[in-house]
Amino acid sequence: MNKYLILSLFLILFSCQQKNSETAELNLIPKPNKIEIGSGSLGVSQGFNVVTENLETKTEENLLALLKQSITLSSSGKKLRLILQPQAKTQSDESYSLTVNRKGVEISALSEAGLFYGIQSLVQLSENKTHIPYVKIEDEPRFGYRGLHIDASRHFVSLDFLKKQIDLMAHYKLNRFHWHFTDGPGWRIEIKKYPELTGIAAWRMEPTWKEWWNSGRKYVPEDTPGAYGGYYTQDEARELVRYAAERHITVIPEIEMPGHSEEVLAVYPHLSCTGKPYTSSEFCIGNEQTFEFLENVLTEVIDIFPSEYIHVGGDEASREHWRKCPKCQARIKTEGLKDEAELQSYLIKRIEKFLNSKGRRLLGWDEILDGGLAPNATVMSWRGEQGGIDAVKSGHDAIMTPGEFCYFDSYQANPGTQPEAIGGFLPIEKVYSYNPVPAVLLEEESKHILGVQANHWAEYIPSEEHMEYMMYPRALALAEVAWTQPENKSWKDFRLRVNNAIPQLQSKGYNTFTLSDEVSFSHDTDSASNAISVSLSTEKDPVEIRYTTDGSQPNAQSPVYTNPIQVKDSVTVTAQLFSGEKAIGTAITRRFDYHNAIGKSVIYNIPVNPYYPAGGEKALINGLMGGLSHGDGRWQGFMTNGMDVTIDLGNLQSISSVNARFMQSIGPWIWFPKEVVISLSDDNKTFTELSRVKSTVSEKEPGTLFQNFGWQGTANARYIRYKAIPNGIKGGWVFVDEIVVW
Ligand code: ACM
Repeated sequence: MNKYLILSLFLILFSCQQKNSETAELNLIPKPNKIEIGSGSLGVSQGFNVVTENLETKTEENLLALLKQSITLSSSGKKLRLILQPQAKTQSDESYSLTVNRKGVEISALSEAGLFYGIQSLVQLSENKTHIPYVKIEDEPRFGYRGLHIDASRHFVSLDFLKKQIDLMAHYKLNRFHWHFTDGPGWRIEIKKYPELTGIAAWRMEPTWKEWWNSGRKYVPEDTPGAYGGYYTQDEARELVRYAAERHITVIPEIEMPGHSEEVLAVYPHLSCTGKPYTSSEFCIGNEQTFEFLENVLTEVIDIFPSEYIHVGGDEASREHWRKCPKCQARIKTEGLKDEAELQSYLIKRIEKFLNSKGRRLLGWDEILDGGLAPNATVMSWRGEQGGIDAVKSGHDAIMTPGEFCYFDSYQANPGTQPEAIGGFLPIEKVYSYNPVPAVLLEEESKHILGVQANHWAEYIPSEEHMEYMMYPRALALAEVAWTQPENKSWKDFRLRVNNAIPQLQSKGYNTFTLSDEVSFSHDTDSASNAISVSLSTEKDPVEIRYTTDGSQPNAQSPVYTNPIQVKDSVTVTAQLFSGEKAIGTAITRRFDYHNAIGKSVIYNIPVNPYYPAGGEKALINGLMGGLSHGDGRWQGFMTNGMDVTIDLGNLQSISSVNARFMQSIGPWIWFPKEVVISLSDDNKTFTELSRVKSTVSEKEPGTLFQNFGWQGTANARYIRYKAIPNGIKGGWVFVDEIVVW
């Protein structure tokens, strides 16, 4: 290679790197799909002098009113041209182009929404800046549906709080607000025909969902001294709809049916199968009065909410009452239905007909697929992606909200450092990694994935501050998942932008999480080289990671992590974030063992639950510890009879310890085993019991806990049998990630 070639390669590499860091420095979230950065910048400290073309007066007034809230408008400022270009193009209606050059700023778009998004980009470019770089942006969203959901039933949130979140949604180009305001813990929308819904079913004596859930789940009249709750009047709901629409956000209301309806049936017990209050969560589908009620409610809801979609819930309905109910059974017979699943589908189909007759479309959680999907329905896929895939494959539309990537009620960092959450673990990098179009879909089918949504269920989110803490900054990652094409996304680049966004969110009064202060560990085993490769990473940026392998606390002189650490036998890594000389957060210590059972075989005396195989038969002896979420693909799950496996070491060996690591996380119904039993054998027939270890942790202990259950000593064996006996709670799980043998 001659030296000119080397020099030009260097220059190309250098300029690419520069481009990447420059686009990160623009601090735009979501990242635009096409950016060209010029040289030079426009001084904007005097603000902007707006000139519009082709805008109707009302549109112009609306845009200028919103603009004034974010940037300075002044006749001495730089020229800002807003141009509506209504001629047909192939781009989406929400597309815009934005140019910054020495003449000023020009934003042009096909629609008011496009102009609005161009303005959001300009606001982000100019926030707290005296100059903005010359740039040309051509942008349009990947998905038309970019949603956030808030559960206002478990804990009531005020209208002002919702407006504040709508502001931020708009800033990050999200455009659907899914308002979950009916559910067992409280009905929260005024329905004039049914005043008891808000007069009683919106109030309870317990301020938190948890206390309400654990103390009888009752409601009280609104005027009861000390009653907790609240509801939105129809005027307030209309106000929110208008406020959101001005910011190009559609509000989608959800009226839950047939399940999650305890609060309705408490005040209108004749709509349940038993006819008695506090006996059922499900409407009686055999009773015509149920349809009369639902249609009357929906009529008022339709009048308030212009959204094309009306969400009807449909999730988690028990079929128990319907099985025993003469009216439901009569309905099954007269309608020629096969079973109770088809009975539920009968309700959804009938409600869909009603909605369609009013010019609206039905949206529901993926259970609406059970018993046959209503002909024009759209599915919101939450129990993984399969519901969405099935919907699309059968010609329907779907919106992806799978729990593993989109449930922001789960922990976003080490549970030991966080307020109590429902369980699970969804750090921002995982949200960011999500691709809402499953690889199994053909190109034509993938057009029916309308978009993606993050859900904020509020069982463990008792206040508005806490709701913001769970929303942000994860919602920013979701916004980029929803807007930016996968090939334009980069976690590294986003990480820097989201770190920069956090102080801005705080200065606007949002109670955002500030990202984990801890180092994250991940590792892979390589049985060819008999080694584990340990990688360290952070959410914070810029920071350094320093680490030790001798058990000491890292300090400013400890080595800086740059490349994965190779482990041939055992190592204890202690790692901590540093900003210059200053340590941040707490050091995290993890031990890695390339132990004696790695690569050997396992016999499952009880099969692993098919939902949690963690990659199969080697999962318990592959050297891979699970992370903080039982659903991360490294934890094996077992139900009723617990775990019972035999490890075959291949030949007689001396053994000095056997340890398995378990999880307890009571939100998702995971407990430590009641007891484990470890036995040894030379022939896999006659076993000698080596040890029994009982759990000493209460089954009520909250948070996400990890514990080794094991034995240490000296023994010889070829076969090791490890049994974990579950604690006996019906429906409870045992989760284990690794059995470490030395
Ligand atoms: C749901 O999380 N039950 C939709």
